[in-house]
Amino acid sequence: MFVTEDIRYIGVNDHDVDLFEGQYTVENGMSYNSYVILDEKVAVMDTVDAHFGVEWLQNLETELNGRRPDYLVVQHMEPDHSANIAVFMETYPEAQIVSSAKAFIMMQQFFGTDFPERKVVVGEGSTLKLGRHTLTFVTAPMVHWPEVIVTYDSTDKVLFSADGFGKFGALDVEEDWADEARRYYIGIVGKYG
Ligand SMILES: [Fe+2]
Repeated sequence: MFVTEDIRYIGVNDHDVDLFEGQYTVENGMSYNSYVILDEKVAVMDTVDAHFGVEWLQNLETELNGRRPDYLVVQHMEPDHSANIAVFMETYPEAQIVSSAKAFIMMQQFFGTDFPERKVVVGEGSTLKLGRHTLTFVTAPMVHWPEVIVTYDSTDKVLFSADGFGKFGALDVEEDWADEARRYYIGIVGKYG
């Protein structure tokens, strides 16, 4: 899905989920958002829920059009964002993984490895040059969990905001934005942040 000339949406919609995080009713489902930035270097922004790994990798492959990703940027380790990290790293063994120091500790716990030969640790204000696009990382601890980073692409002026500004609801359902965004903020983000 087109976002900008260089940025494509590769996320998925989940209409099977009963209770999000086991506690929130989601009548209109949920989306797990992931993006790819196609530049001289190719960066994938986050992964998706475990049930959608195959669909996500297909979405990615379609947008890659024969290219291979150079980086996976992991902004948040909650499984709806991160469940397919290990699958990605196996599928693209030459790719590097970019994340916060805290997230790499969680990766060790979740996947049994923090990919020591392939990891790039970033913190507040770190940058990553892809070519035309430069990504700037900003730490956003407790915008749900303590390891969270958000990423600003100053070329296309896009903020990849992890759980920040999120809402319930799949993207193929038309519904009022504010109600579900408010409910998501109060339930997921506000109580921690
Ligand atoms: Fe989260």
